[in-house]
Amino acid sequence: MNLTPDSEEFRFLPLAESDLVMLHRWLMRSHVREWWAPGDTVESLRQDYLVNPGGTQAYIAWFGNAQIGFIQSYVVMGSGDGWWEDETDPGARGIDQFLANIDHLGQGLGSSMIRAFIDKLFSDPAVTVVQTDPHPRNARAIRCYEKAGFKAIAQVATPDGEAMLMRCERPQS
Ligand SMILES: CC(C)(COP(=O)(O)OP(=O)(O)OC[C@H]1O[C@@H](n2cnc3c(N)ncnc32)[C@H](O)[C@@H]1OP(=O)(O)O)[C@@H](O)C(=O)NCCC(=O)NCCS
Repeated sequence: MNLTPDSEEFRFLPLAESDLVMLHRWLMRSHVREWWAPGDTVESLRQDYLVNPGGTQAYIAWFGNAQIGFIQSYVVMGSGDGWWEDETDPGARGIDQFLANIDHLGQGLGSSMIRAFIDKLFSDPAVTVVQTDPHPRNARAIRCYEKAGFKAIAQVATPDGEAMLMRCERPQS
């Protein structure tokens, strides 16, 4: 795989029933489990992403002909269950993501994938800002998100524990 990616080479295909077993396998990988909430079964993935997705949209990220990772976006306001209760902007979106293959980490693929995904989100004129919330010790993810255009705002308490809230504002046109 050529790892000097161009954002035009990324595609984000909505998660489908036929992706669930693969996604579950990816979630079991050690480099993902280190930073991603555990406990998902294929059935819970089906319920969360396909049956009752709420404001969340899940995608398989493709680079050329390869499925390289998972990325989800959500409407921040009204997330529920104690998440982002102060958000009043209906245009705020949040994202979470991982690369599926440990051999691809740290080579620029993640930051390029996220830049391409942010461009897709901002193609919707209703979207004002995109946020993400890595663990404060996930230095690789924080650096990746900075490269993709996010700025660290503050360390915050979430229902999943401490997180570094990072935001990327809609570019001025
Ligand atoms: C987070 C993730 C998507 C980032 O993608 P990536 O392709 O690895 O990131 P990039 O290569 O674009 O950027 C990583 C940056 O962090 C740096 N880095 C790598 N390991 C690091 C570490 N331990 N400490 C600090 N910086 C580190 C890299 O050198 C690079 O910065 P540079 O280009 O300035 O040198 C990917 O690593 C991943 O899937 N990790 C496992 C799951 C995960 O953490 N998901 C995020 C949950 S919030």
